[in-house]
Amino acid sequence: MGSVAARIVSVKAREVLDSRGNPSVEAEVVTRESVGRASVPSGASKGRLEALELRDGDAKRFHGRGVRKAVANVTKVIGPGVKGLVAADTRRIDDAMISLDGTPNKSKLGANAILAVSMAAVRAAANANSVSLFSQLRKQRAYTLPVPMMNVINGGEHAGNNLAIQEFHIEPVGAKTCTEAIRMGAEVYHSLKEVLVSRYGRVAINVGDEGGFAPPLGLTRDALKSVREAISKSGYNEEDVRLGIDAASSTFYDGKTGRYAIDGGSMDERKLEDFYSTLRDEFGLLTIEDPFHEEAFAAFASITKRLGASSKVIGDDIYVTNVGRMRTGIRKKATNAVLIKLNQIGSVSETEDSIELAKKAGWSITVSHRSGETEDPFIAHMATAFGSDFVKTGAPARGERTAKYNELMRIEEELGSRARFAGRRF
Ligand code: PGA
Ligand code: ZN
Repeated sequence: MGSVAARIVSVKAREVLDSRGNPSVEAEVVTRESVGRASVPSGASKGRLEALELRDGDAKRFHGRGVRKAVANVTKVIGPGVKGLVAADTRRIDDAMISLDGTPNKSKLGANAILAVSMAAVRAAANANSVSLFSQLRKQRAYTLPVPMMNVINGGEHAGNNLAIQEFHIEPVGAKTCTEAIRMGAEVYHSLKEVLVSRYGRVAINVGDEGGFAPPLGLTRDALKSVREAISKSGYNEEDVRLGIDAASSTFYDGKTGRYAIDGGSMDERKLEDFYSTLRDEFGLLTIEDPFHEEAFAAFASITKRLGASSKVIGDDIYVTNVGRMRTGIRKKATNAVLIKLNQIGSVSETEDSIELAKKAGWSITVSHRSGETEDPFIAHMATAFGSDFVKTGAPARGERTAKYNELMRIEEELGSRARFAGRRF
């Protein structure tokens, strides 16, 4: 089957809603042979150095969060700028948009405008060739599907409770396939619902932004205990379903005092490192994301040295999927793992560069959603194409989260014997 060099004829865009009811950019790249559509997500606990998400600021629409400017940038600036380029030529398309923008953080056209087109072009190419998105992203004989990192308890800025830690994850590494891991995760999620009702009453099963439960708790350990009980209640052991957290600790760090407000008190860096270490020993945490604030390279390096032999210390806000920041992290041995978010950097090819750099450094890779998501399952293909160790895409509930998990199951089915599962490979 020869591939078709489908060229971009036009680019359309519109406002759509994300899972929090905020507007987001959806783009459509049209070629003579195909159409590719994609929409972009939006974070709540954003890294300071993320590429810029362009919002209108017009208080009369969507509380100022409209994205009409970004939409107009797609149709009036980007569209004419990429017309005639081959949809499959991701790097060229991205470079063209980056130079049209001309700023280091995509603040002129907006990362939301640029990324939507970057993703939609890959899809237009896949559709023109009648291939799945993952193989359009990267052609391989066999693919490794990621371990789902499911966020089953929500805290921090994603929930209305007093948990400082933003996310409590289950990671079914003992599964034989990704599909089985998703089933195991869904079972634990439902056992957790029972555990929370019996311990705290029905108020505890309201959910947060990523579909995890948001019980009215204030202590980190209480959340982890409930998750652990849910794992054993489901008939699994702690080797098969591991635990992880995303502290997103910039959200509870006070730059003036240098202290972290957590569990009803406050801790300095040393004390917080000891706290994580105790949690690791007690709950066998496999992953610890953003344990310190986004500029604390030395504190990251210290905890990685202490816990890195058996746990993955993941950098999210500290790196913002930016190769420059990641190189600093590699040099300072700040982490042994990275979170990858397309919209932190704002194009598909730059995201690929970050993944390749992480691989060279021997870091564990987690391709991730945002807390504000759309139904677009792009990251399921991204994680598969690049052999990500984990995929982080919320609870096994709520449509914008299950869109990704369900897509992974379809991908695994399509691949058949060409599918591997990352499992305990980490
Ligand atoms: P965000 O959170 O999408 O709200 O930034 C996700 C994360 O911190 O990993
Ligand atoms: Zn994070």
